[in-house]
Amino acid sequence: MNVCIVGTGYVGLVSAACFAEMGNNVCCVDVNPEVVKTLTAGKVHIYEPGLEELVRRNHAEGRLVFTTSLEQGLERAQFVFITVGTPSRDDGSCDLSYVDQVAREIGRLMHRPLIVVDKSTVPVGTADRVRGLIREELAARGADIAFDVVSNPEFLKEGDAVNDFMKPDRVVVGTEDERSAEYLRQLYAPFARSRDKLIVMGTRSAEMTKYAANCMLATKISFINEIAGICEQVGADVREVRIGIGSDQRIGYHFIYPGVGYGGSCFPKDVKALIHTAREAGAVPQLLDAVEDVNARQKVSMARRVRDYFAPQGGVAGKTLALWGLAFKANTDDMREAAALSIIKDLTDHGMRVRAFDPVASENAAKLIGDNPLVEIVNSQYEACRGAQALLVVTEWNQFRNPDFERVKELLTAPVLFDGRNLYSPSFMGEQGFAYFCVGRAASL
Ligand code: UDX
Repeated sequence: MNVCIVGTGYVGLVSAACFAEMGNNVCCVDVNPEVVKTLTAGKVHIYEPGLEELVRRNHAEGRLVFTTSLEQGLERAQFVFITVGTPSRDDGSCDLSYVDQVAREIGRLMHRPLIVVDKSTVPVGTADRVRGLIREELAARGADIAFDVVSNPEFLKEGDAVNDFMKPDRVVVGTEDERSAEYLRQLYAPFARSRDKLIVMGTRSAEMTKYAANCMLATKISFINEIAGICEQVGADVREVRIGIGSDQRIGYHFIYPGVGYGGSCFPKDVKALIHTAREAGAVPQLLDAVEDVNARQKVSMARRVRDYFAPQGGVAGKTLALWGLAFKANTDDMREAAALSIIKDLTDHGMRVRAFDPVASENAAKLIGDNPLVEIVNSQYEACRGAQALLVVTEWNQFRNPDFERVKELLTAPVLFDGRNLYSPSFMGEQGFAYFCVGRAASL
């Protein structure tokens, strides 16, 4: 089949590469000529395991091409996927200007029947809005061409996106048109071979499904983080509590790891957007408000613990903290809404110096941190520790799981470890002679 994908971010590029891998002809359109140049040279501008190899091979075999021209993209397309960014506005609402622009351009350029697929995360009602914009453009040039707008939200986790696309838990297709559903069924057949994996529903339900899924997951995280805070106060250990509750199949073990709060390109934005949608529609998003508040608090809870620890020693001003991990989670270079940014801001606002290391996100982090003179990003996890008064682990990269603690101890001026991801065992850290602070458990000093 012939597919056009507009927007080559994580979602667009992963979708394009996976569709091409199944033998489809895929044309990716991006407004940024630099990105198109890089991709055409067989390089991938984002860090996503397995993606570069897939892109390079399918490009070399001619099934995956890149262009800045939507006209070229639409030449043979039966489907056009909209996978452009939908950033948050200051009031939490979703900025649809890129989607609108693409919709209008499709209306101006399309010359044959087309299924327009919304894959960007967009508020409920956007498929209707896109339909309206395309209709307007068609009417303006007196064209009468059949098209449908389908909602097909993505459920890809960064760092595991190729796998998620290849073996989805489900593919949600929102359309009122049975013929469109059948076309999408064919396109997705190689990925959703068991037929009940492809779920067809109304367009608005599909749009809402995406928000409900992400908000449910964010709720699980804020729930366990709140429980962790209570555990610290009452002398319980949240890691034991997690095992205790997870064994109930209705609860399950997944996605209830306490930590430094959720970040990334989806959860923070989607929770805010659904709160905004709810308010606009006259509903009261009481639980979602709390999910967001708990997360905002959690993001700086480790910074607060660092400040509390150093308070009796004259505070954090002038002291240095080694920080391991900048990305919002492991296996990605994505810094969007990363807890590390909130932690760094909090501590440097209080005069602390931070020496940070991340295996892949340093470059992106440096751009966001700007020229804060109190922050230094270094090239090794041990280099970060040299002369620092304490170490704080923010991201759960594998290489931080079993470090050389002897070396860490030698490099730090005192053996003090704050563990924002509960990577280590408190008793082991005690044996190693560390003052150890983790999430959801009283400190071992
Ligand atoms: C998420 C959804 O999982 C995906 O389905 C959706 O399409 C996009 O948003 P992603 O943002 O890549 O994917 O990250 P994910 O692995 O879900 O983690 C999100 C955040 O929650 C991270 O900051 C992570 O560290 C945190 N998290 C996750 C926890 O703190 N505890 C957990 O138990 C799980």
